[in-house]
Order: sequence, then C-alpha cells, then structure tokens
Amino acid sequence: MQMLVTGAAGFMGSWLVDTLVAQGHDVIGVDNLSGGYVRNINPKSRFILGDLRDPKVCELATKGADVVYHLAAYAAEGQSVFSFDMINDINISSTNRLLTAAVNNNVKKVVFTSSMAVYGDAPTPMHEDLPRAPVDPYGWGKAYGEGLLESCNKAFGLDYTIIRPHNVYGPRQNMADFSRNVVAIFINRVMKGMPPLIYGDGEQTRAFSYIADVAPAIAHAGLVDKTNSHIINVGSEEVTSVKSLAHLVLKTFGSAIEPTHHPERPNEVKHAHCTTAKSEKLLGYKTNHPLIIGVANMVEWAKRLGPKSVKYGLPIQITKNAPPAWLNRVL
Ligand SMILES: NC(=O)c1ccc[n+]([C@@H]2O[C@H](COP(=O)([O-])OP(=O)(O)OC[C@H]3O[C@@H](n4cnc5c(N)ncnc54)[C@H](O)[C@@H]3O)[C@@H](O)[C@H]2O)c1
Repeated sequence: MQMLVTGAAGFMGSWLVDTLVAQGHDVIGVDNLSGGYVRNINPKSRFILGDLRDPKVCELATKGADVVYHLAAYAAEGQSVFSFDMINDINISSTNRLLTAAVNNNVKKVVFTSSMAVYGDAPTPMHEDLPRAPVDPYGWGKAYGEGLLESCNKAFGLDYTIIRPHNVYGPRQNMADFSRNVVAIFINRVMKGMPPLIYGDGEQTRAFSYIADVAPAIAHAGLVDKTNSHIINVGSEEVTSVKSLAHLVLKTFGSAIEPTHHPERPNEVKHAHCTTAKSEKLLGYKTNHPLIIGVANMVEWAKRLGPKSVKYGLPIQITKNAPPAWLNRVL
C-alpha cells in the first residue's frame, strides 16, 4: 500500500516510517524540518521537504496515498499556553490543508496522532469514552483535528482512526527543545553535568511509553478496518512520578547530582495516564520495554549523539505568568 507519513523526519514519524518500510509498504514522508532532522529520514522512503500549510505540498503528498498518518505538529504543549497564536496556527492550518487534499485525492483512511491532552485534567486512568475537555491550547488544537476527521467522515466517507499517545520517549527524540519531552530534557541536562529541572514538587505522574512499543501500534491502526472511527489510547500502563523519572535518569548516568525545583507551570495537569485495554485489543499494543530498559536504551543513544545546546524555537508571545527560566533563557 502507498502510505504518507507527515512529520516523517521527527521522532515518532521516523520510527513509524521505519516500521511501515520494514512491512514492505511504499512510504512517502513529508516534513518541514522545523522540529525534525535529516538524519532521521529513512533512505528507503521517498521524502518531500515541505510545509503542510502549503496546499501544493499537501496535494503532491496525498496523491495516490491509500493511508495518511498525520503526525506533523509543533507539539509544544506547555508553550502553547503562551504562544497559542503561532502554535495553533501551524497545527490547525496544517490539518485543514492536509485533510482538504486527502478528500480531494480520495485517500481511504487517515490515522491522526492526537494526544491525551484532549482529556485535560480528567480523573485517571483516562479512558476513550471521556468527553473532550482540554485545559490548554495544544489540547484544543488536537480536539479540533479529531472533530474535523469526524466531519470529513460524515460528509465524504473518509475513514479515520484517532490515536492518543501518552508521553512517548526514546532514541531520536529532540533533546534540544527547552519545554517539551521531559525524558529527553533530563537526559540532555545530566549529560551536560546539570541537574534535572522539575517544575513544582515532581509528584506529577505520567506513563512514559517507549517508542519501539508505540510505533507498531500506530502503524497497525492504518492497516485494519476494525479501528475505523475509533479513538484509541496508545502507551504504557507503568505510572511514574516526574521526580522518580529524574532519579532514574541520574542513576542510569551514575550521577550524584540532585534535581532542582522551579515553580509549577500554569495549566500543567498533575496526573495524566490512560487505559490500555482498547489498544491491546485492537492494535496488539504491548509494553515490551519497561521504563528502566527504555531509559537505558535512550541514554546509550544520547551518549553516542552527544549533548545538544538548547534551542528556544518560537517566541513566547505572552510573557505574563510564563516560567522565568523560559523568559531568561537559562536552560
Ligand atoms: N511525543 C509524545 O509524547 C506525543 C504524545 C502525544 C501526541 N504526540 C503527537 O505525535 C506527533 C509526533 O510527535 P513527535 O514527538 O514525534 O514530535 P516531533 O517534533 O519530533 O515531530 C513532529 C514533526 O513534524 C514536523 N512539522 C511540524 N510542523 C510541520 C508542518 N507545518 N509541515 C511539515 N512538517 C511539520 C516537524 O519538523 C517534526 O519533524 C505530534 O502530532 C504530537 O503532537 C506526541
């Protein structure tokens, strides 16, 4: 089958391309390299360097595609509170242009990586039947994408599956970003001899999920009809506090540094982890890599790559209540 993967040079997109190529599919990737890297592009795939906000790029990329996996996004949830104008402009415009081209080019199915941010601060474990109730602009952008797929399904018969991954980590994750991907940020800082920086008391809980477990489940969603019109959480059931994660990273490096704490961030959900039963049943998801193994693998990869300088990306458009460490660029 001909598969299009958006965000193909990014972390999850590149693992997904590898999975689909290994399964023998004809894979086209598209990415504007705003958050991805050329080194992540699978040489056995075809690659389009382009921005999904350009309708011509979407038209070219979707032509002949059977399934579109839409992963491209400026996935900065925490920063979206302060830069929602720019971030949601990128994410929502990209999804609009891509789905317009997908319908016009008769794509059969779209698999969309939404986020558990759509659940907001719902009680845990968050399950797929809960109403959409995001607490930040990134989550509202994802909720928009989900709703647009439902609309296109009703109007044009476009099949879809909505995936809500939770806290995915692993080799190839962007370590240079200042605000997203806590596992990568902790690893990058410890590699530089700096303490992990925790916002708040560190008792926030998450279920960090290893990419080698997550990518095959996302791939499967596009290959079977039984997932059509479903929302499916994808990720681990192993719940860990951010403080424990910081100590695990330090221990993996054999470091005696202690984490430092900064004030908590506005709108950060305290506890966020999801049910896994539906993904196990429909996608064959299984946690083969517990956190201790996944972090060890990622640290090995990070050591080979070496530490990265922090990049600040899009500007903080609203400075009110923004973490001082972000404004002062001292990360
Ligand atoms: N990593 C996680 O824990 C997680 C959890 C839930 C959902 N997600 C979602 O999964 C997807 C992939 O996340 P990731 O962690 O791999 O992020 P990533 O930043 O590594 O990958 C996203 C890719 O999209 C590209 N991109 C962004 N805007 C684009 C545009 N307008 N046109 C073309 N390319 C564009 C970037 O260059 C980047 O390579 C995102 O949609 C994200 O919101 C990720």
